[in-house]
Amino acid sequence: MVTPRSAIRALPKLSSPFRPVRSPAPSLRSFMAARIRHSAPALRTFTTSRASQHGHIHPPKPGEELNITFIDKEGRHHTFQVSKGDNLLDIAQANDLEMEGACGGSCACSTCHVIVKDPDMYDKIPEASDDEDDMLDLAFGLTETSRLGCQVNMTKELDGLVVQLPHMSRNMQAADFEDKKR
Ligand code: FES
Repeated sequence: MVTPRSAIRALPKLSSPFRPVRSPAPSLRSFMAARIRHSAPALRTFTTSRASQHGHIHPPKPGEELNITFIDKEGRHHTFQVSKGDNLLDIAQANDLEMEGACGGSCACSTCHVIVKDPDMYDKIPEASDDEDDMLDLAFGLTETSRLGCQVNMTKELDGLVVQLPHMSRNMQAADFEDKKR
C-alpha cells in the first residue's frame, strides 16, 4: 500500500536536511512531501451517543411537557413527555421505536407513516403539504387520518396525541417480510 511516508521515501534524494542549504528555493523533495502531507486524509475520532440523544429532540422544560403515545405493531403503548416543536420521527427514533425514516425526514419516502387514532386530534395538525400528500399516497395501509411522522411537530394543541405505527411500510425490511408470512 502506498502511504504518504512510503511515497516520500520513494522520491529521489535531491538534498539532505543535514547539509547546509545552498539555495533559498525549496527542494523538489520537500515540496512533494508538503503536497502529500496536505492531501493525506485527516484522522477522525470515533464517538458514540446514547439512544436518547438520537434524533433532534430536546428534554421538555418543567411544566411544558407534552404527552404523546405511540402504539407499536404489537399493540404496545409507549408514552413520552416531549417538547413543543419535536417531530414524531425524531421522538420515535430517540426512543428506539420501529420507525425507519429512510429519507431522513425530507418528505421523500413513506417509512415514517403514522395513523392518528383520534380524528379530532388529526384535525388539529396543520394540513399536509402537497409533497406530504404525494408521499402518503405511497404509504402502505393509508387511512383517512394518516400522516408522515417527520412532518408533524408537537404543539400544545397536540398534547395527548396517540398515533399507531402501521404494520408495514413501503421500504421493505426483513421485519416486514416476516409480517407478510404470518
Ligand atoms: S422520513 Fe421520509 S418522509 Fe418522513
